[in-house]
Amino acid sequence: MIIRVRSGDAAPSTAELVVLPIASGEEAGDAVRGLARRSAGTALRRAIAAARFRGREGQVATLPLGDPKRRMLCLVGLGDPAALDLDAWRRAAGRGRRVADAAGVRRVAIVLDGRAGDQPHLVAVVEGFRLAGYRFDKYKSDGDVPPPVEELILVAPAPPSEKTLASAWETIEVTLGAVATARDLVNEPAAVKTPAYLAAMAERLGKAAHIAVEVWDPARLEAERMNGILAVARGSSQEPRFIRLRYRGAKARRRIALVGKGITFDSGGLSLKSAKSMETMKIDMAGGAAVLAVMAALGRLRPAIAVEGFIPATENLPSGRAQKPGDVIRFLTGKTVEVVNTDAEGRLILADALALAAASKPDVIVDLATLTGSCVVALGPQVAGVFGNDQPLVDQLIAAGRESGELLWQLPLVPEYRDDIKSPIADLKNVGGGNAGSITAALFLQEFVGDTHWAHLDIAGPAFTDKDLPYASKGGTGFGVRTILRYLTDLAADGAERLAGAHAATSGTRSATRSKGST
Ligand code: BES
Ligand code: MN
Ligand code: ZN
Repeated sequence: MIIRVRSGDAAPSTAELVVLPIASGEEAGDAVRGLARRSAGTALRRAIAAARFRGREGQVATLPLGDPKRRMLCLVGLGDPAALDLDAWRRAAGRGRRVADAAGVRRVAIVLDGRAGDQPHLVAVVEGFRLAGYRFDKYKSDGDVPPPVEELILVAPAPPSEKTLASAWETIEVTLGAVATARDLVNEPAAVKTPAYLAAMAERLGKAAHIAVEVWDPARLEAERMNGILAVARGSSQEPRFIRLRYRGAKARRRIALVGKGITFDSGGLSLKSAKSMETMKIDMAGGAAVLAVMAALGRLRPAIAVEGFIPATENLPSGRAQKPGDVIRFLTGKTVEVVNTDAEGRLILADALALAAASKPDVIVDLATLTGSCVVALGPQVAGVFGNDQPLVDQLIAAGRESGELLWQLPLVPEYRDDIKSPIADLKNVGGGNAGSITAALFLQEFVGDTHWAHLDIAGPAFTDKDLPYASKGGTGFGVRTILRYLTDLAADGAERLAGAHAATSGTRSATRSKGST
């Protein structure tokens, strides 16, 4: 998609659809003054009044602009003008895109006012517009696929120059490509995206992005004593895989480990789920998909940071060889775990991965996992739970999420609940007593990170949406990809600044520089 930026308030004559975001209480009639001049303006203002457009969040009104070119105007409500954050613009742009796709137009303009003319806002608008255009239609045979929007023209009073924006557009291209990759992987049926498929995909993406990928098969898993993933995989005829990806940027000062749950289908195992709760369980690798997509994006953005990705991938199925409730697993850290419920499988494969990650002594571990239904009960389908043993880390992730429009809410690691996961026959059991299920799950994970700085994102709710959201259509959302990329690029830029500051202090010559990709 070609993106152009124009200054002023006039709707470009080449646009077939002109999107105009308006906050509640604002006069849409005034805002269109620059769009339709003279006689058409009066008719347009009348039409707007008749549509009772009030600028409420989510309100959309599509009207003819009334010009010879027969352009359309789409008013999109931004909601409360006092609560206009970046995401309000992202959502508005996403709603505009839905109208564009429904109308089948090729060229769209979005007319922004002074509040949204700077780079972060323009970036958010492009993000919302493009994210809303994602579709997973590879299994659709009918022809009701709308033609793609070819050109987006952003109109703002005093936008940054095209030259300034060029690197931001590059960053968006990579970031949104990563979100689409994660969404594609989550949406893919489990019959196709087996653990071996995920591993092959990691190898392909790694090669294209020039990052190292290593895949362990069952023999290697045995040799490495990765007994959690082996125990979960036993019930399935699909072999498990453990995927490692390594990215190292020039001048990297920090090493981060990312861990993603990669259950390609979660039936519950012998502790079988109900048919209803199994319906969407192909999404149980969304954390792994996010880690994979982030790693591939890092290879292209090249921030000054070192990141290693760990993805344990397996199915969780029942069979004559499946692990059974009451079985005990001995982990590579020496800890033993009684498997009381085979449906609490995520923490078993994450335990292996977290222990391995911690052994490499990174500065920080962040894991992403569709871990518990109780997190969905607590926070609903649009908010992830975040836990951690390092408050500044948790705060940074929440802030990165807020900027990205991905909501994270901190839940506590209550030490008193640690008793809930004590087993009479082993060191731990894999389920708590029934209350606070996402907390006891997080406490379980904590047992495997030692004293490494660590945060855990329970994305069971927002990894998938069963209704269209302003800029995510039904299905996998790619949740976490933009937040983690922002967190990592901010960290890299911060490291580069500190490094430059240190040099400046010693040599007095260098000044702070921001790394590419930190926009
Ligand atoms: N993959 C599920 C969690 C899940 C639920 C993800 C809903 C997305 C939507 C996980 O493996 C699981 O089954 N958790 C159990 C744990 C329980 C057995 C302690 C749960 O949440 O019910
Ligand atoms: Mn499960
Ligand atoms: Zn699961």
